[in-house]
Amino acid sequence: MVIRIDLELRARDAGRAVHRGDLIIVIDALRSGTSILNALTNSAEAVIPTMSLREAYRLRRQHPHYLLAGERGGRMPKGFDLGNSPLEFTREKVAGKSLVMTTTSGTAALAKSQGAKWVLVGAFLNARAVARTAEEIAAKEGIDVSFVLAGEKGKFSLEDSLCAGAVAEGFTAGKVCLSDKAQLALLAFKQAESNLTGNVMKAEHARHLVKMGFKEDIAFSCKLNVLRAVPVYRDGKITLQK
Ligand code: MLT
Repeated sequence: MVIRIDLELRARDAGRAVHRGDLIIVIDALRSGTSILNALTNSAEAVIPTMSLREAYRLRRQHPHYLLAGERGGRMPKGFDLGNSPLEFTREKVAGKSLVMTTTSGTAALAKSQGAKWVLVGAFLNARAVARTAEEIAAKEGIDVSFVLAGEKGKFSLEDSLCAGAVAEGFTAGKVCLSDKAQLALLAFKQAESNLTGNVMKAEHARHLVKMGFKEDIAFSCKLNVLRAVPVYRDGKITLQK
C-alpha cells in the first residue's frame, strides 16, 4: 500500500487529519517541538503538554516535583522553572524529571491532534528519524500520514512548512505519495536547505525571536538530522518512541 502524506497548514485544522485516521506529525520548529525533543534527548522522563497556564499550575500543585516549562509572548511565565529555549533543556536540569509544558501555538497544536492514535513530534533535528518511524508505523497499521503545522498564533508559518518539507524528504520514494501541500513543503525545503538557518531567519516568527534575543535558539533549531529520537504523544504525555 502506498502511504499518502497530507499536510494541514494550520493547527485548527488538525481535526481533519484526526478524522481521516492519519498518523499525525506535529511540527513547531521554533521552538516548542525542538524544546520537547531536546528535553527528552537529555533524559527528561516525560513532557506533559497543556493548553493553558492554569492547567500547568494545577498540575504542579498536584505534583510538586514536576517542572514547569514554556512561554507566553516568548517569555517564561511567572513561577516557571524553564522557558521555551531549546538550549535551556540541559541534562543537568531535566534528566529524570517530568515537565509540564505550555506554549502559545505548539502545545495547542498537540492538544488539537490528540484524538489521533499516533501523534509524533517532528523538528529539523530529527526530521529523517521521524519520517522513518512514521513510515514504519503507517505501513504496519495501514494508515496515512498528515503533518499538522503549529504555525504562529493560528496563522501559517514559513519555518514549520520548511520543517515539514525536511521530514517529507525522509520518506522512501515509491512508498509514499505526497499531496500538493506536502509536495510544496518539500520543494520549498529543497530550495531552502543549502542555507537553512539563513532562510528560516526570514520567517516572521524567527525575526521576532531575534529581536527578543533568541537568535541562538534558531541556529540550534535548524540543525538538520542530528538526532534519532522520536517523541510520541500518547495518554496525555510525550515520551520517546522505543
Ligand atoms: C509556540 O509554541 O507558540 C512557540 O514555540 C513560541 C516560541 O517560540 O516561544
